[in-house]
Amino acid sequence: MPDRVWLSREDEALTACDRGCEPGRWFAAAYGDVPVVTQVNDGREPEDPADAWPSSSASAPSIVFKMLELLELAPGMRVLEIGAGTGYNAALLSHRLGDANVTTVEIDPAVAGLARTNLKATGFSPTVVCGDGGLGWAAGAPYDRVVATCSVRHVPYAWVKQTRPGGVILTPWCDDWSHCGLLRLTVGDDGSASGHFTADSAFMLMRTQRSNLRLFRDVVMDDHVPVESATALDPWTVADSPFETQFALGLRLGDLWYAWHHDPDVEGVETRLWVATTGGDSWAAVDWDGVDNTERYTVWQHGSRRLWEEVEAAHRWWLENDRPGPERFGLTVTPDGQWAWLDEPGAGFAGGAGLKETGQRD
Ligand SMILES: C[S@@+](CC[C@H](N)C(=O)[O-])C[C@H]1O[C@@H](n2cnc3c(N)ncnc32)[C@H](O)[C@@H]1O
Repeated sequence: MPDRVWLSREDEALTACDRGCEPGRWFAAAYGDVPVVTQVNDGREPEDPADAWPSSSASAPSIVFKMLELLELAPGMRVLEIGAGTGYNAALLSHRLGDANVTTVEIDPAVAGLARTNLKATGFSPTVVCGDGGLGWAAGAPYDRVVATCSVRHVPYAWVKQTRPGGVILTPWCDDWSHCGLLRLTVGDDGSASGHFTADSAFMLMRTQRSNLRLFRDVVMDDHVPVESATALDPWTVADSPFETQFALGLRLGDLWYAWHHDPDVEGVETRLWVATTGGDSWAAVDWDGVDNTERYTVWQHGSRRLWEEVEAAHRWWLENDRPGPERFGLTVTPDGQWAWLDEPGAGFAGGAGLKETGQRD
Protein backbone atom coordinates (compact mmCIF):
# COMPACT_ATOMS: atom_id res chain seq x y z
CA MET A 1 0.00 0.00 0.00
CA PRO A 2 1.28 3.50 -0.63
CA ASP A 3 1.75 5.67 2.47
CA ARG A 4 -1.23 7.75 1.37
CA VAL A 5 -4.54 6.00 0.73
CA TRP A 6 -8.09 7.39 0.44
CA LEU A 7 -10.87 6.10 2.65
CA SER A 8 -14.54 6.86 3.08
CA ARG A 9 -17.10 6.12 5.74
CA GLU A 10 -20.45 4.83 4.50
CA ASP A 11 -21.41 6.91 1.47
CA GLU A 12 -19.25 9.88 2.38
CA ALA A 13 -16.60 11.44 0.14
CA LEU A 14 -13.10 9.95 0.02
CA THR A 15 -10.57 11.51 2.36
CA ALA A 16 -6.80 11.07 2.36
CA CYS A 17 -5.33 8.93 5.12
CA ASP A 18 -1.57 9.15 5.65
CA ARG A 19 0.19 6.27 7.31
CA GLY A 20 2.40 8.65 9.28
CA CYS A 21 -0.51 10.76 10.62
CA GLU A 22 -3.18 8.12 11.18
CA PRO A 23 -1.39 4.77 11.51
CA GLY A 24 -4.36 3.09 13.22
CA ARG A 25 -6.77 3.98 10.43
CA TRP A 26 -4.20 3.16 7.72
CA PHE A 27 -3.36 -0.29 9.15
CA ALA A 28 -7.02 -1.12 9.78
CA ALA A 29 -7.74 -0.45 6.10
CA ALA A 30 -4.63 -2.28 4.90
CA TYR A 31 -5.45 -5.44 6.86
CA GLY A 32 -9.23 -5.21 6.61
CA ASP A 33 -11.32 -7.07 4.05
CA VAL A 34 -12.17 -3.84 2.27
CA PRO A 35 -11.15 -2.20 -0.99
CA VAL A 36 -8.62 0.59 -0.39
CA VAL A 37 -8.26 3.45 -2.85
CA THR A 38 -4.57 3.95 -3.65
CA GLN A 39 -4.87 6.68 -6.29
CA VAL A 40 -7.53 9.31 -7.08
CA ASN A 41 -8.31 11.34 -10.22
CA ASP A 42 -5.78 9.48 -12.38
CA GLY A 43 -2.99 10.82 -10.15
CA ARG A 44 -3.97 14.52 -10.33
CA GLU A 45 -4.54 16.37 -7.07
CA PRO A 46 -8.29 17.25 -6.92
CA GLU A 47 -8.86 21.02 -6.62
CA ASP A 48 -11.62 20.36 -4.10
CA PRO A 49 -11.03 17.28 -1.89
CA ALA A 50 -14.77 16.51 -2.27
CA ASP A 51 -14.12 15.88 -5.99
CA ALA A 52 -11.82 12.91 -5.38
CA TRP A 53 -12.83 9.78 -7.27
CA PRO A 54 -11.00 6.45 -7.26
CA SER A 55 -8.68 5.64 -10.17
CA SER A 56 -6.65 2.81 -8.64
CA SER A 57 -7.22 0.61 -5.63
CA ALA A 58 -6.28 -2.54 -3.80
CA SER A 59 -9.34 -4.78 -4.06
CA ALA A 60 -10.81 -6.39 -0.95
CA PRO A 61 -8.86 -9.63 -0.29
CA SER A 62 -12.06 -11.72 -0.31
CA ILE A 63 -12.88 -10.72 -3.90
CA VAL A 64 -9.23 -11.23 -4.95
CA PHE A 65 -9.39 -14.78 -3.62
CA LYS A 66 -12.85 -15.43 -5.03
CA MET A 67 -11.54 -14.48 -8.47
CA LEU A 68 -8.43 -16.65 -8.06
CA GLU A 69 -10.70 -19.59 -7.19
CA LEU A 70 -12.85 -18.95 -10.25
CA LEU A 71 -9.70 -19.04 -12.39
CA GLU A 72 -9.04 -22.71 -11.41
CA LEU A 73 -5.29 -22.31 -11.74
CA ALA A 74 -2.94 -25.26 -12.17
CA PRO A 75 0.87 -25.44 -12.14
CA GLY A 76 2.48 -24.31 -15.37
CA MET A 77 -0.40 -22.09 -16.47
CA ARG A 78 0.39 -18.77 -18.10
CA VAL A 79 -1.68 -15.83 -16.86
CA LEU A 80 -2.25 -12.31 -18.13
CA GLU A 81 -3.58 -9.84 -15.56
CA ILE A 82 -5.11 -6.52 -16.61
CA GLY A 83 -4.73 -3.80 -13.95
CA ALA A 84 -1.57 -4.33 -11.85
CA GLY A 85 -2.61 -1.77 -9.19
CA THR A 86 -0.50 -2.42 -6.10
CA GLY A 87 0.92 -5.64 -7.57
CA TYR A 88 -0.72 -7.72 -4.81
CA ASN A 89 -2.64 -10.05 -7.14
CA ALA A 90 0.37 -10.39 -9.46
CA ALA A 91 2.44 -11.42 -6.41
CA LEU A 92 -0.12 -14.08 -5.46
CA LEU A 93 -0.18 -15.36 -9.05
CA SER A 94 3.63 -15.40 -9.16
CA HIS A 95 3.78 -17.30 -5.87
CA ARG A 96 1.37 -19.91 -7.25
CA LEU A 97 2.61 -20.23 -10.86
CA GLY A 98 6.15 -18.85 -10.90
CA ASP A 99 6.81 -15.32 -12.03
CA ALA A 100 7.90 -16.42 -15.54
CA ASN A 101 4.26 -17.40 -16.12
CA VAL A 102 2.73 -14.09 -15.04
CA THR A 103 2.32 -10.87 -17.01
CA THR A 104 0.43 -7.87 -15.66
CA VAL A 105 -0.53 -4.77 -17.66
CA GLU A 106 -1.18 -1.39 -16.00
CA ILE A 107 -2.19 1.72 -17.92
CA ASP A 108 -1.00 4.30 -15.38
CA PRO A 109 2.80 4.79 -15.41
CA ALA A 110 2.99 5.83 -11.73
CA VAL A 111 0.84 2.87 -10.66
CA ALA A 112 2.87 0.50 -12.84
CA GLY A 113 6.02 1.85 -11.14
CA LEU A 114 4.52 1.21 -7.70
CA ALA A 115 3.59 -2.35 -8.71
CA ARG A 116 7.14 -3.01 -9.92
CA THR A 117 8.66 -1.67 -6.70
CA ASN A 118 6.26 -3.64 -4.51
CA LEU A 119 6.77 -6.85 -6.45
CA LYS A 120 10.54 -6.49 -6.25
CA ALA A 121 10.32 -5.86 -2.51
CA THR A 122 8.40 -9.11 -2.05
CA GLY A 123 10.89 -11.04 -4.18
CA PHE A 124 8.83 -11.50 -7.34
CA SER A 125 9.59 -10.40 -10.87
CA PRO A 126 6.65 -11.11 -13.18
CA THR A 127 6.52 -9.09 -16.40
CA VAL A 128 4.96 -5.68 -15.62
CA VAL A 129 3.88 -3.87 -18.78
CA CYS A 130 2.78 -0.23 -18.78
CA GLY A 131 0.10 0.09 -21.46
CA ASP A 132 -3.55 -0.36 -22.37
CA GLY A 133 -4.69 -3.75 -21.13
CA GLY A 134 -7.51 -3.64 -23.68
CA LEU A 135 -4.90 -4.66 -26.22
CA GLY A 136 -3.78 -7.58 -24.06
CA TRP A 137 -0.09 -8.36 -24.39
CA ALA A 138 0.49 -10.30 -27.59
CA ALA A 139 4.19 -10.87 -26.91
CA GLY A 140 3.34 -13.26 -24.06
CA ALA A 141 0.44 -15.10 -25.77
CA PRO A 142 -1.08 -17.64 -25.77
CA TYR A 143 -2.35 -17.49 -22.18
CA ASP A 144 -4.26 -20.11 -20.23
CA ARG A 145 -6.01 -17.42 -18.21
CA VAL A 146 -6.74 -13.72 -18.63
CA VAL A 147 -7.96 -11.97 -15.49
CA ALA A 148 -9.02 -8.33 -15.45
CA THR A 149 -9.17 -6.34 -12.23
CA CYS A 150 -11.00 -3.39 -13.78
CA SER A 151 -14.47 -3.74 -15.28
CA VAL A 152 -15.42 -3.68 -18.95
CA ARG A 153 -18.55 -2.84 -20.95
CA HIS A 154 -17.09 -4.55 -24.02
CA VAL A 155 -14.82 -7.56 -23.68
CA PRO A 156 -11.79 -6.71 -25.86
CA TYR A 157 -11.48 -9.30 -28.60
CA ALA A 158 -7.67 -9.19 -28.12
CA TRP A 159 -8.19 -11.14 -24.87
CA VAL A 160 -10.01 -13.92 -26.74
CA LYS A 161 -7.39 -13.96 -29.48
CA GLN A 162 -4.55 -14.23 -26.97
CA THR A 163 -6.11 -17.07 -24.92
CA ARG A 164 -5.66 -20.68 -26.00
CA PRO A 165 -8.80 -22.73 -26.83
CA GLY A 166 -10.19 -24.06 -23.55
CA GLY A 167 -8.61 -21.17 -21.64
CA VAL A 168 -10.57 -18.86 -19.36
CA ILE A 169 -11.17 -15.10 -19.31
CA LEU A 170 -12.45 -13.67 -16.04
CA THR A 171 -13.48 -10.05 -15.90
CA PRO A 172 -15.61 -7.71 -13.81
CA TRP A 173 -18.56 -6.52 -15.87
CA CYS A 174 -20.21 -3.15 -15.97
CA ASP A 175 -22.92 -2.00 -18.33
CA ASP A 176 -24.36 1.45 -18.61
CA TRP A 177 -27.36 0.64 -16.40
CA SER A 178 -25.85 -1.47 -13.63
CA HIS A 179 -22.28 -1.52 -12.42
CA CYS A 180 -21.60 -4.98 -11.14
CA GLY A 181 -21.05 -8.58 -12.08
CA LEU A 182 -18.26 -11.03 -12.81
CA LEU A 183 -18.09 -12.72 -16.19
CA ARG A 184 -16.25 -16.03 -16.75
CA LEU A 185 -15.75 -16.93 -20.40
CA THR A 186 -14.27 -20.09 -21.89
CA VAL A 187 -12.53 -19.70 -25.23
CA GLY A 188 -13.71 -22.09 -27.95
CA ASP A 189 -11.94 -23.60 -30.97
CA ASP A 190 -13.85 -21.31 -33.32
CA GLY A 191 -12.37 -18.02 -32.09
CA SER A 192 -15.34 -17.13 -29.87
CA ALA A 193 -15.66 -17.11 -26.06
CA SER A 194 -18.81 -17.79 -24.03
CA GLY A 195 -19.77 -18.07 -20.41
CA HIS A 196 -21.99 -17.08 -17.54
CA PHE A 197 -22.02 -14.21 -15.11
CA THR A 198 -21.12 -15.54 -11.70
CA ALA A 199 -21.25 -13.04 -8.90
CA ASP A 200 -21.85 -9.57 -7.63
CA SER A 201 -18.81 -7.31 -7.64
CA ALA A 202 -18.01 -3.66 -8.25
CA PHE A 203 -14.75 -2.62 -9.92
CA MET A 204 -13.58 0.63 -11.43
CA LEU A 205 -14.16 0.83 -15.17
CA MET A 206 -11.28 0.27 -17.55
CA ARG A 207 -9.93 3.75 -18.34
CA THR A 208 -10.14 3.22 -22.09
CA GLN A 209 -13.88 2.40 -21.87
CA ARG A 210 -14.96 5.42 -19.83
CA SER A 211 -17.69 7.65 -21.24
CA ASN A 212 -17.81 11.33 -20.36
CA LEU A 213 -21.37 12.03 -21.54
CA ARG A 214 -23.10 14.66 -19.37
CA LEU A 215 -26.88 14.90 -19.09
CA PHE A 216 -27.36 18.64 -19.50
CA ARG A 217 -24.32 19.31 -21.65
CA ASP A 218 -24.70 16.52 -24.21
CA VAL A 219 -28.18 15.02 -23.98
CA VAL A 220 -31.01 17.33 -22.87
CA MET A 221 -31.15 20.59 -24.88
CA ASP A 222 -33.29 23.70 -24.36
CA ASP A 223 -34.98 23.38 -27.75
CA HIS A 224 -36.16 19.79 -27.24
CA VAL A 225 -39.95 19.38 -27.16
CA PRO A 226 -40.61 16.05 -25.43
CA VAL A 227 -43.82 14.00 -25.76
CA GLU A 228 -45.83 13.64 -22.52
CA SER A 229 -47.45 10.42 -21.30
CA ALA A 230 -47.97 8.56 -18.03
CA THR A 231 -46.73 5.32 -16.50
CA ALA A 232 -47.69 3.08 -13.60
CA LEU A 233 -44.14 1.67 -13.39
CA ASP A 234 -42.46 3.10 -10.33
CA PRO A 235 -39.03 4.44 -11.42
CA TRP A 236 -37.42 3.14 -8.20
CA THR A 237 -38.37 -0.40 -9.29
CA VAL A 238 -35.99 -0.22 -12.23
CA ALA A 239 -33.30 2.23 -11.10
CA ASP A 240 -33.03 1.74 -7.35
CA SER A 241 -33.88 -1.92 -7.15
CA PRO A 242 -31.91 -4.93 -5.90
CA PHE A 243 -28.81 -5.83 -7.86
CA GLU A 244 -30.58 -8.75 -9.63
CA THR A 245 -33.22 -6.51 -11.24
CA GLN A 246 -30.81 -3.84 -12.37
CA PHE A 247 -28.35 -6.39 -13.67
CA ALA A 248 -31.01 -8.06 -15.87
CA LEU A 249 -32.35 -4.73 -17.09
CA GLY A 250 -28.84 -3.55 -17.92
CA LEU A 251 -28.21 -6.54 -20.18
CA ARG A 252 -31.63 -6.30 -21.74
CA LEU A 253 -31.50 -2.55 -22.34
CA GLY A 254 -28.03 -2.57 -23.89
CA ASP A 255 -27.20 1.10 -24.39
CA LEU A 256 -29.30 2.95 -21.81
CA TRP A 257 -28.08 4.74 -18.67
CA TYR A 258 -29.90 6.73 -16.01
CA ALA A 259 -29.41 9.54 -13.53
CA TRP A 260 -31.54 10.64 -10.58
CA HIS A 261 -32.38 14.29 -10.07
CA HIS A 262 -33.75 15.10 -6.63
CA ASP A 263 -35.43 18.50 -6.11
CA PRO A 264 -35.06 19.43 -9.79
CA ASP A 265 -36.57 22.89 -9.21
CA VAL A 266 -39.61 22.09 -11.35
CA GLU A 267 -43.05 22.86 -9.91
CA GLY A 268 -44.84 19.73 -8.73
CA VAL A 269 -41.78 17.50 -9.19
CA GLU A 270 -40.02 16.08 -6.16
CA THR A 271 -37.75 13.58 -7.94
CA ARG A 272 -37.02 12.95 -11.60
CA LEU A 273 -35.39 9.90 -13.17
CA TRP A 274 -33.56 10.61 -16.41
CA VAL A 275 -32.90 7.83 -18.92
CA ALA A 276 -30.72 8.36 -22.00
CA THR A 277 -28.94 6.43 -24.73
CA THR A 278 -25.16 6.23 -24.60
CA GLY A 279 -25.16 8.03 -27.96
CA GLY A 280 -27.17 10.84 -26.32
CA ASP A 281 -29.71 10.98 -29.17
CA SER A 282 -32.85 10.03 -27.18
CA TRP A 283 -33.91 10.62 -23.60
CA ALA A 284 -36.84 10.15 -21.21
CA ALA A 285 -37.72 11.62 -17.83
CA VAL A 286 -40.12 10.19 -15.25
CA ASP A 287 -41.46 12.48 -12.51
CA TRP A 288 -42.61 11.73 -8.99
CA ASP A 289 -44.75 14.49 -7.54
CA GLY A 290 -43.84 13.76 -3.94
CA VAL A 291 -47.21 12.18 -3.05
CA ASP A 292 -47.02 8.82 -1.29
CA ASN A 293 -48.77 5.87 -2.97
CA THR A 294 -48.65 7.48 -6.38
CA GLU A 295 -49.54 4.95 -9.03
CA ARG A 296 -49.18 7.34 -11.91
CA TYR A 297 -45.95 9.05 -12.91
CA THR A 298 -45.58 11.63 -15.65
CA VAL A 299 -43.27 10.63 -18.50
CA TRP A 300 -41.45 12.87 -20.99
CA GLN A 301 -39.76 11.30 -24.01
CA HIS A 302 -37.61 12.85 -26.72
CA GLY A 303 -35.76 11.49 -29.75
CA SER A 304 -36.17 8.70 -32.25
CA ARG A 305 -36.59 6.06 -29.52
CA ARG A 306 -39.22 5.90 -26.78
CA LEU A 307 -36.87 5.01 -23.97
CA TRP A 308 -39.33 4.69 -21.13
CA GLU A 309 -41.36 2.25 -23.24
CA GLU A 310 -38.16 0.25 -23.75
CA VAL A 311 -37.63 0.21 -19.97
CA GLU A 312 -41.23 -0.89 -19.36
CA ALA A 313 -40.87 -3.69 -21.96
CA ALA A 314 -37.57 -4.86 -20.42
CA HIS A 315 -39.10 -4.94 -16.95
CA ARG A 316 -42.15 -6.89 -18.23
CA TRP A 317 -39.80 -9.35 -19.95
CA TRP A 318 -37.88 -9.84 -16.72
CA LEU A 319 -41.09 -10.57 -14.78
CA GLU A 320 -42.38 -12.97 -17.49
CA ASN A 321 -39.11 -14.91 -17.33
CA ASP A 322 -39.40 -15.55 -13.58
CA ARG A 323 -37.12 -12.70 -12.55
CA PRO A 324 -33.83 -14.36 -13.64
CA GLY A 325 -30.78 -13.61 -11.51
CA PRO A 326 -27.28 -12.89 -12.90
CA GLU A 327 -26.27 -16.59 -12.95
CA ARG A 328 -28.87 -17.36 -15.65
CA PHE A 329 -27.33 -14.80 -17.99
CA GLY A 330 -24.28 -15.18 -20.15
CA LEU A 331 -22.32 -13.49 -22.89
CA THR A 332 -20.72 -14.61 -26.14
CA VAL A 333 -17.81 -12.68 -27.65
CA THR A 334 -16.86 -13.10 -31.33
CA PRO A 335 -14.68 -11.05 -33.68
CA ASP A 336 -17.90 -9.27 -34.75
CA GLY A 337 -19.14 -8.17 -31.33
CA GLN A 338 -20.64 -9.48 -28.10
CA TRP A 339 -24.13 -10.80 -27.30
CA ALA A 340 -25.91 -11.38 -24.04
CA TRP A 341 -28.21 -14.39 -23.61
CA LEU A 342 -30.46 -16.06 -21.09
CA ASP A 343 -29.75 -19.69 -20.05
CA GLU A 344 -28.12 -21.00 -23.26
CA PRO A 345 -25.54 -19.44 -25.58
CA GLY A 346 -27.18 -18.52 -28.85
CA ALA A 347 -30.69 -18.67 -27.38
CA GLY A 348 -30.87 -14.91 -27.11
CA PHE A 349 -33.51 -13.35 -24.96
CA ALA A 350 -36.68 -15.49 -25.08
CA GLY A 351 -39.71 -13.42 -26.00
CA GLY A 352 -37.59 -10.42 -26.72
CA ALA A 353 -35.63 -9.07 -29.61
CA GLY A 354 -33.50 -12.21 -29.96
CA LEU A 355 -29.75 -11.84 -29.70
CA LYS A 356 -28.87 -8.40 -28.56
CA GLU A 357 -25.69 -6.59 -29.59
CA THR A 358 -24.28 -4.90 -26.54
CA GLY A 359 -20.91 -3.88 -27.86
CA GLN A 360 -18.64 -2.87 -30.65
CA ARG A 361 -16.02 -4.83 -32.43
CA ASP A 362 -12.60 -3.98 -31.05
C1 LIG B 1 -8.79 -2.42 -8.82
S1 LIG B 1 -7.29 -1.81 -9.45
C2 LIG B 1 -6.27 -3.26 -9.57
C3 LIG B 1 -5.93 -3.97 -8.30
C4 LIG B 1 -4.71 -4.84 -8.48
N1 LIG B 1 -4.92 -6.00 -9.28
C5 LIG B 1 -4.09 -5.19 -7.15
O1 LIG B 1 -3.79 -6.37 -6.90
O2 LIG B 1 -3.81 -4.26 -6.37
C6 LIG B 1 -7.65 -1.55 -11.17
C7 LIG B 1 -6.45 -1.08 -11.96
O3 LIG B 1 -6.76 -1.15 -13.34
C8 LIG B 1 -6.00 -0.15 -13.97
N2 LIG B 1 -6.53 0.08 -15.33
C9 LIG B 1 -7.63 0.80 -15.69
N3 LIG B 1 -7.76 0.79 -17.02
C10 LIG B 1 -6.75 0.04 -17.52
C11 LIG B 1 -6.35 -0.32 -18.83
N4 LIG B 1 -7.03 0.09 -19.92
N5 LIG B 1 -5.25 -1.09 -18.97
C12 LIG B 1 -4.54 -1.51 -17.89
N6 LIG B 1 -4.86 -1.17 -16.62
C13 LIG B 1 -5.95 -0.42 -16.44
C14 LIG B 1 -6.15 1.03 -13.03
O4 LIG B 1 -5.16 2.01 -13.26
C15 LIG B 1 -6.04 0.34 -11.68
O5 LIG B 1 -4.72 0.37 -11.21
